[in-house]
Amino acid sequence: MVIKHDVIIVGAGLAGLRAALEASRYYDVAVLSKLFPTRSHSGAAQGGIAASIGNVEEDHIDWHFFDTVKGSDYLGDQDAIEYLVTDAHPAIYELEHLGVPFSRTADGKINQRMFGGHTKNYGEGPVLRACFAADRTGHMILHTLYEQCVKNNVRFYSEFFVTDLMVKDNIVRGLVAYNMINGQMVTMQSKVVMFGTGGYGRAFKITSNAHANTGDGLGIVLRAGLALEDLEFVQFHPTGVYRYGILVSEGARGEGAYLLNNTGERFMKNYAPKLMELAPRDMTSRSIQTEIDEGRGINGESYVHLDLRHLGEEKIAERLPEIRSFCQKIVGIDVVKEPIPIQPTAHYSMGGIPVTVDGEVLADGKSQKVEGFYAAGECSCVSVHGANRLGTNSLLEAVVFGRRAGKSLTKYLSTAGTELPDLPTEMVEPALQRVEKFMTKTGKEKTGILRKELQEIMMSKVGVFRDEKGLKEALEKVKELEKRFEDVQIDDKSWKFNTDLTEAMELDNLLHLAEIIVSGALNRQESRGAQSRKDFPKRDDENWLKHTIAFKKDGKVLFDYKPVVITKFQPKERKY
Ligand code: FUM
Repeated sequence: MVIKHDVIIVGAGLAGLRAALEASRYYDVAVLSKLFPTRSHSGAAQGGIAASIGNVEEDHIDWHFFDTVKGSDYLGDQDAIEYLVTDAHPAIYELEHLGVPFSRTADGKINQRMFGGHTKNYGEGPVLRACFAADRTGHMILHTLYEQCVKNNVRFYSEFFVTDLMVKDNIVRGLVAYNMINGQMVTMQSKVVMFGTGGYGRAFKITSNAHANTGDGLGIVLRAGLALEDLEFVQFHPTGVYRYGILVSEGARGEGAYLLNNTGERFMKNYAPKLMELAPRDMTSRSIQTEIDEGRGINGESYVHLDLRHLGEEKIAERLPEIRSFCQKIVGIDVVKEPIPIQPTAHYSMGGIPVTVDGEVLADGKSQKVEGFYAAGECSCVSVHGANRLGTNSLLEAVVFGRRAGKSLTKYLSTAGTELPDLPTEMVEPALQRVEKFMTKTGKEKTGILRKELQEIMMSKVGVFRDEKGLKEALEKVKELEKRFEDVQIDDKSWKFNTDLTEAMELDNLLHLAEIIVSGALNRQESRGAQSRKDFPKRDDENWLKHTIAFKKDGKVLFDYKPVVITKFQPKERKY
């Protein structure tokens, strides 16, 4: 049986749900998610969503524009950034009207807090720009959008794992998915497919990302022969709980928390004297890692302290209750009385599926659109974050570009109609066989062991700091793991809710993406944003002010490039 809808959206995070809400006003929309929708990773974003609405102090769209460009280390496309910061205003008020319970000022307006790299007057000092709902901002927006989609009769297919996309003659036709609940493979057909499938933080050992963040959408795109953009730029959030990687929101530093080394020094004064703990993430993570590498971690260990104690119990209870709660449960620390041990944690993928500002996927990464195929949110690269994303710009990106993609795919259907393109049976069969093959393979390798080895090498050689020797070692290891993966055996032979099978398919995606991340990092001989090469410590605008486009053909990674869109702000030295 083939399931048919006008629009199929894969991924139930903020980008997917915001697009679904838009399209469901006019069309029959389905959302597929490998989790229950409200467990999507957008719900883990704690600190806020940026918009220069100036509720608490003076702010301007142009200041937000400048900060995002500078934060991106000038690799962000400025046409897209202008949409991000301008559409932020209607996007936030729409969320408010849909029912998001934002924290409020004394006079009832949406409250705003400080976040790294967001400044007043083009870098003068931190500005109150992040709209927030305590430290549960993503969770609140996710639940509100889900409720609104249910109200609009969006059809949810929860715990459906999409395995392949069907694109023929550059037109999207549908997809193949594994229904985890009953164990059946299903074929779905539609005129429009949109991906909002999230990032790939699970390629790294220490990560703030949920177990589900395995870059499945990107892996599918790569297998479909389409391009990916700027995958070498992986953001390390400065404050992950030591050893666990769990996010401790930058909102804590926005409220005034300090970073301290083993002598109790607020070391950020040596790296970013003006913004201190509110420097952008790439810089703050490098500063923490340098303290650790030079022996100034606490007790000589690989962590420093995030200290909230001076904020007081009342403020912590009002603004940062989740942090207090999970620190108590997970590390047994009461943040009112003790500092939190933290280390940088893999957090966000700046790169992804290349798209236009309307979410249309670009097959070649440059100009050739795939008819009917859209993407938004972390899985996409529009590119508003360039080489380094500012905190709170990701929820904003998901909402703004999910909304834009929803509007643009609705417009496409209004002219192209909803008559379905042919379903290429010659593409369905191999997609089904691919999954069948996983189930019947025999071999001595285990998914869990290969995944652990991948995460370890990515963390140690492709982390906050990189160099040629380490990257070459990582590339060799990834290729070895790809080879060994051919011998992976799935022990669970049943079809219903087979996590042995889904984990193998996830690792397949992660391995291919890891090869592109490492190859891209090796190829880019400069330091820019989150890519910090010890052997090429300077930014090199002459040779590298360009986006990386990567494909995989006949088992080989191929690169192409495209220029950065610069409209208003010329590249300058980045000081904070
Ligand atoms: O630190 C945080 O609350 C995370 C926000 C973000 O990644 O934008």
